Amino acid sequence: MTQPAILSTGSYAPPRRLTNEELATMVDTSDEWIHSHTGIRARHIAADHEAASDLGTIAASRALESAGIAPEEVDMVLVATSTPDYLSYPATACIIQDNLSCTRAAAMDITAACTGFVYGLETAACYIKAGRARYVLVIGTEVNSRILNWNDRNTCVLFGDAAGAVLVGPSPDGKSRVIDSVLRSLGNDALALLRPKGGSRHPLTFTPEEEKDFYVQMNGKKVYLFAVSAMGKIIEKLLRRNGLTIDDIAYIVPHQANVRIIQSCSQRLGIPMEKFYLNLEEYANTSAASIPLALDEMNRKRLLSRGDRILTVGFGAGLTYGGNLITW
Ligand code: ACO
Repeated sequence: MTQPAILSTGSYAPPRRLTNEELATMVDTSDEWIHSHTGIRARHIAADHEAASDLGTIAASRALESAGIAPEEVDMVLVATSTPDYLSYPATACIIQDNLSCTRAAAMDITAACTGFVYGLETAACYIKAGRARYVLVIGTEVNSRILNWNDRNTCVLFGDAAGAVLVGPSPDGKSRVIDSVLRSLGNDALALLRPKGGSRHPLTFTPEEEKDFYVQMNGKKVYLFAVSAMGKIIEKLLRRNGLTIDDIAYIVPHQANVRIIQSCSQRLGIPMEKFYLNLEEYANTSAASIPLALDEMNRKRLLSRGDRILTVGFGAGLTYGGNLITW
């Protein structure tokens, strides 16, 4: 059986940086509140002409270039996004596939919110293990700024725009590989984090009073409690199932939503904070892009050595959650 591994990484964050101070001139908030409640200091915001496919194309082309793999060799383009270029179709993956000239590739989007990259990586690994694909691009890309209510301080301070990508392919040495994954969902709490309007449940017609339903809404406390519990379950399950302890793991790469969620998980499981890679201070919550963005940043900082074991842990709307155990 072919063992799938992450062969390369790439990312892109738009240059426009919106600090907490600047945000405080737009909505009733402060740097002190945002940083003390979330750990966030800034976020990057896409230019008006940039959509999810534009950010994702740059991140994926960087991953392809770094691996030295030609676009025609890619068998599948998987795009995790909650902010696709178009509401229903075409899939953002098809647009990226064309931008990159991956002429032989299947292309589809994955809708699992902030857990989307974790779902995508496991999907890619399964296709490769089954011998049905050799090279799969897994991309997380989000232009969250376009679906936020910029008058709602409960949500608009939390999110940012970015893209991250990995190329998954046959392990070059049998040692580097995607070892295991756990994917879950708690659909009974699906409405805790949602964008009510625009789908087949509440189609896209609205009165001025209903305009807020076109943007993200969230039960923050419910999502917070879910996130801490979900992170703990995934980390414990992946360790136990693979006969590992936390000492066998070089880094946990969590979805970058809120530093307090990660601190609570760290305390609950007795895992030192240094084990968790964090970059949310600079980028805020970039949904499906946050884990591949962090992986690429770690790769470029040379924090990861061949043979290091890492755990990814995602959680988000759905409510979905999951994680991957990877040997770098
Ligand atoms: N600036 C100033 N004050 C604010 C702001 C803000 N940006 N936002 C809320 N407040 C106020 C509230 O109005 C409230 O005031 P009140 O007491 O007068 O009513 C007060 O601060 C406290 O509000 P809480 O909601 O209790 O604040 P809490 O400490 O719970 O933090 C937060 C809120 C940060 C949203 C937290 O609940 C959280 O992180 N939840 C998880 C959210 C998350 O991670 N979502 C994304 C994950 S899934 C995905 O990525 C798609």
